[in-house]
Amino acid sequence: MSVHVQNSRMTTAKLRQMKANGEKIAMLTSYDFTLASLVDEAGIDMFLVGDSASNVVCGNQYTLPITVDEMIFLTKGVVRAAQHALVVCDMPFGSYQVSEEEAVRNAIKILKESGCDAVKLEGGEEILPAIKHMIQAGVPVMGHLGLTPQSVNQFGGYGLRAKEEAEAEKLLHDAKLLDEAGCFSIVLEKIPAALAEKVTKAVSCPVIGIGAGNKCDGQVLVLHDMLGLNQGFKPKFLRHFASLAGEVKTAVGEYINAVKDSSFPNSEESY
Ligand code: KIV
Repeated sequence: MSVHVQNSRMTTAKLRQMKANGEKIAMLTSYDFTLASLVDEAGIDMFLVGDSASNVVCGNQYTLPITVDEMIFLTKGVVRAAQHALVVCDMPFGSYQVSEEEAVRNAIKILKESGCDAVKLEGGEEILPAIKHMIQAGVPVMGHLGLTPQSVNQFGGYGLRAKEEAEAEKLLHDAKLLDEAGCFSIVLEKIPAALAEKVTKAVSCPVIGIGAGNKCDGQVLVLHDMLGLNQGFKPKFLRHFASLAGEVKTAVGEYINAVKDSSFPNSEESY
């Protein structure tokens, strides 16, 4: 029996090598096969099937409602599209906080059923035992510190995190714990750039920033945000690399007009 292995695919070892070489890592979220195929062809290093799907795909106000099965459904499409990039799936709220056993069971379920390469979960020391058990079970884990949207009800909003010294010290401590536990990478969300730089230098694993300045080992953005599809959302850290909302609305408007005035389909578009 021959097994086809694509050695051009990104691995956690290659990501570490990129950090060592000072080569920046580019990560984007994706939630479906069609867009993920384009993103992969463009050469992205890592996909995040983020629980931001709860907002972007499902229209919820928060990330909290999305379930393990819904994350698996979305991740399968991204995995089928990923010829090159490593695919990370977010573990949704409630899937790893109850017990270490449940956390490991859910992480394995996500890996087995979606085909993704790794999982991401939010938090530091509080969830360290769960992270250690997952890594012992062979699950590659990405950490996530700073603004952790699953804790929005505790934080009371989506403001900048770790401005004060005590929170900054805890974040640095947590990052070191996650690194020592064997996380292959850590996301830092919406924290001061100077703190993100300090964390990036203090840990051996690659650090991926979002709203955390340009001294991290790489960056992640929500695909729909950076493509300008989400018109109402423009935090300071977000750059629109395209303005697709306008293009989509123009195209749909032209389609509607063409249907209404019977110019679509024309004779060449008919059988
Ligand atoms: O769910 C998500 O999209 C994320 C990124 C913002 C890092 O966790």
